[in-house]
Amino acid sequence: MAHALVFDSGVGGLSVVEELRKIAPDLYLSYVADDEFRPYGDKTEAQLKSRLPGLLQTLCLMLKPDIIVMACNTASTTALAEIRDAVSVPVVGVVPAIKPAAEQSQTKTIAVLGTPGTVRRRYVDQLIADFASGCDVRLHGSTELVNLAEQKLSGTEIMIASVQSEIAPLFAGKTGASLDTIVLACTHFPLLQNELAAASPKNVTWIDSGNAIARRTLSILQGLKHTKIPSHPATAFLIGGQANFEREVMFKTFGFEKVVTLKA
Ligand code: DGL
Repeated sequence: MAHALVFDSGVGGLSVVEELRKIAPDLYLSYVADDEFRPYGDKTEAQLKSRLPGLLQTLCLMLKPDIIVMACNTASTTALAEIRDAVSVPVVGVVPAIKPAAEQSQTKTIAVLGTPGTVRRRYVDQLIADFASGCDVRLHGSTELVNLAEQKLSGTEIMIASVQSEIAPLFAGKTGASLDTIVLACTHFPLLQNELAAASPKNVTWIDSGNAIARRTLSILQGLKHTKIPSHPATAFLIGGQANFEREVMFKTFGFEKVVTLKA
């Protein structure tokens, strides 16, 4: 059995945990949410590059995982190389599923729905140039959807109208009329899949990277010698966060028996 550390700014990485649990129920998982610095989507590249490599290095020394899953598009499209340089284990990043979206779109009109940071990154422009040059691509960033996903997983009921107003720009104008495929380029967004579908004015295909990342993680682990897994139950660590009752119950449903608050 191997030990994977799944990292995100908040609960978004749980959408990746869900995929990992489906294909690798025996994998030992630790989870870290950087509550203190969320949302990442409105931070500058310099801010993320200065925080993340050192933080992941510390977490790696403390938790001793076999692999790190950066379950965050914003961090992965900004600081993956720097994080890889800082740690001694493989790091799997999550990047927007632009290639499969371009392949699957019938109308060759796709949208990338991410955080404001992700949709501005050169990395995303490069993915579009490499894999979707034949498509009309609409980019749209939302921090509010990240907040809504956090609220949902803390037990708050989400009003479809608040999701509707966040995604309305995707469906505007000529591009919006022919749009048939939307990339969920933030790991928080698959957690709102039902709300997004209900808020959408028409049927579209929603594509995220969760399953691909889970498969990639397993294939890397297969080629590695694993260290001993921790003897304590699977734990979610919240950096600067509050481990309230609702969150503890929610983390339990994703297989994390313990929730621990860490100081940054
Ligand atoms: N879940 C993250 C992502 O995939 C970041 C959300 C945020 O903190 O802005 O981009």
